[in-house]
Amino acid sequence: MIGAEAGRTTAENYRRFAEREARGKSPLYEELAAGIADDDEVLALIDTLPPGKRQPNLVLAAARFLYGTPTGYPGLRATLIERWAQVRSVALARSTQTNEVGRCAALLPVLAELRRPLALIEIGASAGLCLLLDRYHYDYGTGARLGPADSRVRLDCELRGPGTPPAHLPAIVWRVGLDLDPVDVTDPDAVRWLETLVWPGQTTRLRRLRSALELATVDPPPVVRGDLRTDLPRLVAGAPADATMVVFHSAVLAYLPAADRARFAEQVAGPDVTWIGYEAPGVVAVADPPPAPPPDTGSAFLITHDGRQVAWADPHGAWLRRT
Ligand SMILES: C[S@@+](CC[C@H](N)C(=O)[O-])C[C@H]1O[C@@H](n2cnc3c(N)ncnc32)[C@H](O)[C@@H]1O
Repeated sequence: MIGAEAGRTTAENYRRFAEREARGKSPLYEELAAGIADDDEVLALIDTLPPGKRQPNLVLAAARFLYGTPTGYPGLRATLIERWAQVRSVALARSTQTNEVGRCAALLPVLAELRRPLALIEIGASAGLCLLLDRYHYDYGTGARLGPADSRVRLDCELRGPGTPPAHLPAIVWRVGLDLDPVDVTDPDAVRWLETLVWPGQTTRLRRLRSALELATVDPPPVVRGDLRTDLPRLVAGAPADATMVVFHSAVLAYLPAADRARFAEQVAGPDVTWIGYEAPGVVAVADPPPAPPPDTGSAFLITHDGRQVAWADPHGAWLRRT
């Protein structure tokens, strides 16, 4: 049966996920997705889900959330066949909503250059962990470190190409997140789902997520429920007038149709708001079409400042290359 993505069958989607996404990042996910791609009985079960719910990330996380991480495909197969009703209900009830604190390391150098103090609005904030970027410790290599030395969240970012590490943390005087479905960092079930979305074997990601969650639980970042297409003006209206108003987002706008992205760009255009985007190339329409990323970038996101390209960055903040 045809799956949700670009007219591909579910088997093709799982094969593609195994070979193009999981390979080199999570050997176990590569094995599990490849196993499903070759298994007609399991594919038929997955095809009972609505097309948007058949994605490998969601189905694999649902099975792991309920029954733990299998050691290989035979264990996963047994779970999916014997307990499909339970896995199906978790896949239907939940979504692949992540929160990647590593992205703060790529955003920080751009935010640190803005006129201070800052009032931050993060749209698509998830649990709001990226709103706490001034509570993390950063290492940009060659001795360039900043942020609280005793922070349990330690983020490494390699600076490539031109530019120097930030000299200071931005002074943040006000912050709020907006999300269709905010993740409550004090709800153990919600936190466990967030953790389950980290792929098996990605221990650094899981460690920094857990550290950030621990820190956030003590003083949770404010994230209000709402839609970035309609609810941004009321948040902007609540910000202090004497701070630089920054609206930022990472890995969010791709979820919107192009027409909604264009309308959003109009909302944040103008002198009153500084707009920082951190998205896959092509998601934010940049004034000058960006040149192809340098060969050392591999898979890369584009960081934009008021619709101008300012950097390429690793999608999880492992490196930054100013343009
Ligand atoms: C992939 S997550 C990224 C979360 C976070 N920005 C990060 O980088 O870790 C995308 C988030 O965008 C939110 N989202 C998607 N569409 C939205 C909309 N129209 N309005 C508000 N939030 C939205 C989702 O609920 C989800 O939390």
